[in-house]
Amino acid sequence: MAERKRLVAGNWKMNSGRADGLALARGVAERARAPHRCDLLVCPPFTLLAMVGKALAGSGVALGGQDCHPSPSGAFTGCISAEMLKDAGCSHALVGHSERRHTCGETDADVRAKTEAAWRAGLVAIVCVGETRAGREAGQAREIVCGQIAGSIPDGATAEQLIVAYEPVWAIGTGLTPTTADIAEIHAAIRGELPAGTRILYGGSVNPKNAAEILALEEVDGALVGGASLKADDFWAIAEACG
Ligand code: 13P
Repeated sequence: MAERKRLVAGNWKMNSGRADGLALARGVAERARAPHRCDLLVCPPFTLLAMVGKALAGSGVALGGQDCHPSPSGAFTGCISAEMLKDAGCSHALVGHSERRHTCGETDADVRAKTEAAWRAGLVAIVCVGETRAGREAGQAREIVCGQIAGSIPDGATAEQLIVAYEPVWAIGTGLTPTTADIAEIHAAIRGELPAGTRILYGGSVNPKNAAEILALEEVDGALVGGASLKADDFWAIAEACG
């Protein structure tokens, strides 16, 4: 089986303006000059893509969008297409983040269409899945996540075009994380549904303190980091936790 190089990805969410975004991007690019064992990606807000892309040029740190519309262009006020992300210098697009599934009402079918759009534009799709607290407490985490995988990933996926991020909704921004045994169990279940070699990231309250333990798990191929990606030192500490 192909080696799965780990990926540490920062999802800046709806944070940063030009000044702090530029400082953060430069801080990441600067640190990425040091030897490291993982791929690196940052996903700033759309307004900063061009500027951050410029700051990252030559650093090896990839640029991603936080979402994309299924259509390539058209009368969709306020939306950004996968083709636009590609044109702005992105190589990756996050799709199906729980904050979009839950606050924007996105369904598995929507996420599937966005994944297809990302592939059409030549982007790697990072498909996010994860159970709610109620789902976890009902003992249904595995079924929920596998159901989201089945509904959100189009036929014909390849390990080159697809990354999955397991982000339990209750762990996002809360400081709570599943046990390492729970993470390993869900990742193994997800892996059974995917083409060989597909990378599976863990996301949800990853920080410099817990990163090494999580990233040491055989089934964890990297991290999708929210809050801690807004500080270059913390983001870099997580990257260094890859060994
Ligand atoms: P936090 O790292 O802030 O919990 O966010 C995780 C996340 O949602 C990344 O996409």
